[in-house]
Formats: sequence, structure tokens, C-alpha cells
Amino acid sequence: MFKCKECGYRTLKWLGKCPECDSWDSFVEEEERYKRKSTTLSDIKPQYLNEIKAKGKERVSTGLLEFDRVIGGGVVIGSIVLVSGEPGIGKSTLLLTISGILSREKKVIFISGEESMSQIRLHAERIGILEDKILILSEMNILAILSCIESENPDIVIIDSVQAVSIPDGNGMPGSVSVVREIASAIIEVAKKKDITIFLVGHITKSGNIAGPKTLEHMVDTVLFMEGDRTHSFRLLRCKKNRFGSTNEVGIFDMDEKGLKEVKNPSLYLISGKQENSSGSVIIPTVEGSRTIMVETQALVIPMRFSYPGRVAQGFNERRLDLLVAVIQKRLNMNMSNYDIFCNIAGGMSVLEPSIDLGVILSIISSLLDKPISDELCVVGEVGLSGEVRGVPYISSRIHEAKRMGFKRIVTPDNAPDENKDINVIKVSNISQAKDICGL
Ligand SMILES: Nc1ncnc2c1ncn2[C@@H]1O[C@H](COP(=O)(O)OP(=O)(O)OP(=O)(O)O)[C@@H](O)[C@H]1O
Ligand SMILES: [Mg+2]
Repeated sequence: MFKCKECGYRTLKWLGKCPECDSWDSFVEEEERYKRKSTTLSDIKPQYLNEIKAKGKERVSTGLLEFDRVIGGGVVIGSIVLVSGEPGIGKSTLLLTISGILSREKKVIFISGEESMSQIRLHAERIGILEDKILILSEMNILAILSCIESENPDIVIIDSVQAVSIPDGNGMPGSVSVVREIASAIIEVAKKKDITIFLVGHITKSGNIAGPKTLEHMVDTVLFMEGDRTHSFRLLRCKKNRFGSTNEVGIFDMDEKGLKEVKNPSLYLISGKQENSSGSVIIPTVEGSRTIMVETQALVIPMRFSYPGRVAQGFNERRLDLLVAVIQKRLNMNMSNYDIFCNIAGGMSVLEPSIDLGVILSIISSLLDKPISDELCVVGEVGLSGEVRGVPYISSRIHEAKRMGFKRIVTPDNAPDENKDINVIKVSNISQAKDICGL
């Protein structure tokens, strides 16, 4: 067999150009695989489900409550966790912080292929974990890494990053699809055999996906994404896949010179910067996992600068902004085609749920008319194409959070409960009513 060094494509004949990944001169001869002795093959028998002995999956707390929350209440011993995110977002900082806390009870090895020993020391000094007993190894060779794991017998291994590790016989570049796949499977094999918990750092590609083969995500137990705007200190940790828990929860951190800190009251953190009496700004209670978080959406509407109207959305889907602007134009009879519209969720937060629709629409109208919306009022609701305001889930907890943060009035869809103390709940069924209530 011949195998492409870049993508792992196999063929019976040598080829000059790989039909899969289009690289030139990438085929090397490979010994035949899957040769097992027939005696070992005949030993393999399936087992009845109820006869299988299951090891209780123990969880350990990482000491960072926000991280534990995302991962489903602590890391499962023996599981493989992949942490990914933009360059410089704080992946190494997060994992160094966690290894500091975990090393107080477990044996932790932090293997870095990206930073030298002294760089890691400076990093650790900055985030204040120097006193903790973490073993550090600056190594890129997979054989050296595996033999270190064999001899040290750690409980937890952190590999920063899987794309930096290389295979010594020169079969492909570090970070290429086939090398990443091989390295991940070697590490996972040793982890499963010795019940070691592994944290892998994964780079991302230009389009925002994890670099390397898609199978990397299938091979690991948990995939976490760290997001945030690098110009802000706010960081979100989202779970994309979890074999041992839900993927709904998010972890919220603040990044400063001392490293990552948990944010205890995200609503206060995100809306405290709101300018009083400013047009184009609306507060919305959003739901992330089991938490309700108040966010501020801001809009800026200006006369069109070029020959077609510009639309920019930060913190939510840009296509959604297009759709909402079309709803304003058609259902409220307001001509939006001569304006550039910029929308932003303040503080670097990103929101995936459509319950921000009504807030986004009102912030656009508020900016267009240059009329501020009262600071005592917040807004929630999904908006349909006919301009109707649709119900949103967890409405009671949204009203509760609005009350807690001191809001006196909240504009909601029809599905809000009737009885509400200390806050005036104003139900609306379409955007025109919501616009009147906000005094626009
Ligand atoms: N002295 C400092 N004060 C505040 N923030 C700092 C300081 N030094 C570093 N940072 C922050 O830490 C970030 C780097 O964090 P870290 O090395 O954990 O990122 P990373 O995701 O591992 O990056 P890479 O992909 O390059 O490995 C910087 O982008 C910066 O935001
Ligand atoms: Mg790093």
C-alpha cells in the first residue's frame, strides 16, 4: 500500500499527486496493516450487556467552578477533553490554571510543544500557580511523550497542543491531518489503558473549525471551545460535545494579567457599562444553559456610505440581522435601504438564541430615530417574519433576573405568567405594539 503523508489517503499504486488533498509527491510505501495472528483473533468474543462490569466513572472538581459547570460537574477520570479556540484566547492559561489546582491532589504533567520551560515558568508566575507541584515537559516528539507518560504514571496529562507534536520518522508535517490523527490515537490508547485523564489543546483553522481531521472530535470524549473578543477580557467556554453530560452550559471568565477569573455575576459584568439615556441601546435577558444573563445590545444606524447598505452584526448571526431589518422595513413601513446598520452585543458576549430579536429590532429603531429607550425597561421576544412576537422558553427566570438587576418594566411575549411582583410585565403580540410601549 501507498499512503499520502498529508491526508492519510491509501492506494495500491504509487501516485504523483494525491486525489484526495491534491498534494504532490506525498505518497510513501506502507507495510500491510491489520496482520493479526489467527489465534488471537479467535479469542475475541462479544459479551452480553448485563454481564459487562462497568467501572464507576468518578469525577474530580478542577477547582474552577465555571469549568466544572461546562464539563458537567467535574472532569470524568480517564476521559479525553479537547480544548480549542482562537490563537491567544487563553487555552494555555486555562489549562495551566486547572493543572495548578488539580496538582494539589493528583499527579499532573503539563507537556508543551509550543512554549519553552522558562516561558511556562513565566506564565505560571503571572497566574500565581508557581507553588503547585506540576511537572513540566517541553517536548514535541510523540515517542518521548509516550515514554514519559509510561515512566511517570501520572493521573492527568495536558498536551499543548496536539498540532505541535511530531512523529520522529518524518512521516508528514506536525499538524497535518494524518499526523494529528495518529498522535491522537496513540495518546488516547495509552490514556484508556492506564485510566489517565487527558486534556488536549487543539488549534483552529481560518474558518473556525478544529484543525486536523474531523475524526479528532469523534475520538475524544469532550470538545470545548473557548470564545471571546480578544480586545475584551470576557471569555466564554462552550461545550460542543460531551459524552458524560449536557452541552448546554457555558462557563464565563474574565481574563486579566493574573490569568482567568470566574465571573460570579455575569449580568452585572455585562450591563454595568451601559450609558444612561443613550439611543440604540437595549437590555435583554438571555438564557445560557441553566443561567439567565442580561446582555446589552447596541445598534448604530447611519446614512449609507457606499452604493449598497452595509450590515454588520457582532455577537450574533449576521443573517439574522438581515432578516430582522427586512421585518422592520415591511411590517413597520420604515425604509431601511438607505442606511448602514451596525449591531453589537456589548462586552464581547455572543448569543445564539433568537430571544434577542425584539431587542435588536428596538435598538435599531431607537438609533434610527435617535430616541433612547428608558433605562428601567428591558425587552425579550423572538420575532417572526410577519412581525409577530413569539414566545420564548424560561420566561419566568428571565423576568426574575430582570427584577434582580433592578428593572421596573419588561416587554415580553404573550407566554409570560400573569402574576408578577415588583416588576411590570408588559405583554406584546407584535413589534408595532413593542415600539409604541418603548416610546419610539
Ligand atoms: N500581562 C498580561 N496581562 C493581561 N493579559 C495578558 C498578559 N499576558 C498575556 N495576556 C493574555 O493572555 C493571552 C495569551 O494566553 P494563552 O497563552 O493562554 O493563549 P493560547 O490560547 O494558549 O494561545 P496560543 O494559541 O498562542 O497557544 C494573551 O492573548 C493576552 O490576552
Ligand atoms: Mg497556548
